Amino acid sequence: MLNLLQTYAPAGLTPKFLDMGCGDGRFVFSAAKRGWFAVGIDLEPSNIELCTKLAKENGLAEQTQFFLVDMFTFDLSDYNLIACYLYEKTLQLVSKNLGERLSQGNCVVATILYKPRNWIPRFVDNMYKIHVYDETMTLQKK
Ligand SMILES: C[S@@+](CC[C@H](N)C(=O)[O-])C[C@H]1O[C@@H](n2cnc3c(N)ncnc32)[C@H](O)[C@@H]1O
Repeated sequence: MLNLLQTYAPAGLTPKFLDMGCGDGRFVFSAAKRGWFAVGIDLEPSNIELCTKLAKENGLAEQTQFFLVDMFTFDLSDYNLIACYLYEKTLQLVSKNLGERLSQGNCVVATILYKPRNWIPRFVDNMYKIHVYDETMTLQKK
């Protein structure tokens, strides 16, 4: 998933990675190990506590940040590589915020398993069910 975000990122972009619903932080830590500034947000306090602890234990506290926050209220404008591994309903609901961020340009979004309704991916990895979107994403009229 991170490889795909990197592949479709606009040239010259300084990576600022965001995992929407970071769980145990696995994507955030992998992104930080690539040298990306990496942020995870989650609504579950125990996940943020765990991620913060793991970041310190693994020497990744400088390159990572974790926020206990509802993704629907989180400002996406600072981030240009965004991962979403979410339940389908959550993804549909947050797709409005993601679409607004994509329309600002210089941003790539990867969704895993599900895809926002009517969104046209730039690339699909059928084996891992990853959909990649950039500013060329257009909403398909029904
Ligand atoms: C399917 S898990 C994915 C976890 C992690 N990204 C991974 O790949 O292992 C979805 C995560 O989204 C979080 N989540 C669900 N709704 C959320 C919301 N409204 N705001 C922030 N996090 C949310 C859950 O607590 C959970 O950790």
